Amino acid sequence: MKEIVSAAIFALSLCSSLPLYAADHCDDDEVVIKFSHVVSAEGHPKGEMASALARRINEEMDGKACMQVFPSAKLFDDDKVMEALLLGDVQLAAPSLSKFEAYTLKYRVFDLPFLFSSMAAVKSFTEGEVGQELLGAMSDYCFVGLGYMLNGLKQFSADKPLQLPRDATGLDFRVQNSDVTVAMIEALGASARKIRFGDVYTALERGKVDGQENTWSNIFAENFYTVQDGVTETNHQLLAYLAVVSRDWLDSLQPDVQYQFLKIFDEVSKEYNARALGMNAFKKIQIIENGGVVRQLSPDQRDKWVEVMKPVWDQFIDGIGQDVIEAAMEASQPRKRSGLH
Ligand code: LMR
Repeated sequence: MKEIVSAAIFALSLCSSLPLYAADHCDDDEVVIKFSHVVSAEGHPKGEMASALARRINEEMDGKACMQVFPSAKLFDDDKVMEALLLGDVQLAAPSLSKFEAYTLKYRVFDLPFLFSSMAAVKSFTEGEVGQELLGAMSDYCFVGLGYMLNGLKQFSADKPLQLPRDATGLDFRVQNSDVTVAMIEALGASARKIRFGDVYTALERGKVDGQENTWSNIFAENFYTVQDGVTETNHQLLAYLAVVSRDWLDSLQPDVQYQFLKIFDEVSKEYNARALGMNAFKKIQIIENGGVVRQLSPDQRDKWVEVMKPVWDQFIDGIGQDVIEAAMEASQPRKRSGLH
């Protein structure tokens, strides 16, 4: 199969529609693992993690398993991929945690504005007892959460300068499919429009919406900053993903194949989660170097954003559970953190 992988990589230079780092053809006796996601394959924590996972599986599990990665929604969009998992059209997906509201309200914890003080806090929470328990929140729907894939904290951008919450009043913002985010935007006196990721650039460019909120890596990779007045470093909400598979598919794997697949997934996700913070910091620098405007908030200005957006927590506590929120808050206490800063 190694020859086929090399041929596929070589062919990429000729045909850009091939999946990146995919074995274009898997052998008949190999378990085929199609991984569909919506972001860029390069310069993005999830995109690069997916490619690295495929590289390792295709090298180390040659003859047993074979992974094909389909970035940029080339195979499925996030609103279709969960059904595709159950139908066996793909085997691995990683939508953002904001996009699971139809299956569980517990993941709304990840969307609460200004909950996580840093990515170190996110790491501590996701690796802790409550975070690990949440991986099983979709078992009733026959999905298994393999682990979290981290991106970063989100920033606001708009077609006018945003320094205070009142600057956002009256604007239309693109949001993911998340009611917490809708409530957060409405708390600003603004309107939220749920738009699929692949359509955001065009919506901004054509003025269908005035602004958006996303991580530095998405803002850079999708060129959002080029059609906005500027980006304000608000760090207001998390963007992270759940790597998810169907229970039936996971159980269908031979024990040695399942063990090796899960082990490689665990190692690669740890490695790339540790890189996500630096990757986003680099993307912020690239935005500035490419002529984008990045605005900072003074501590007083930041307090105003917190004051306006944090009260939306009250609407979602029942669905999430006070215990889950408390565990996440505790993870933001410096003494609980380790690793990332
Ligand atoms: C979005 O829709 O903004 C994100 O979920 C896209 C992604 O996968 O990073």
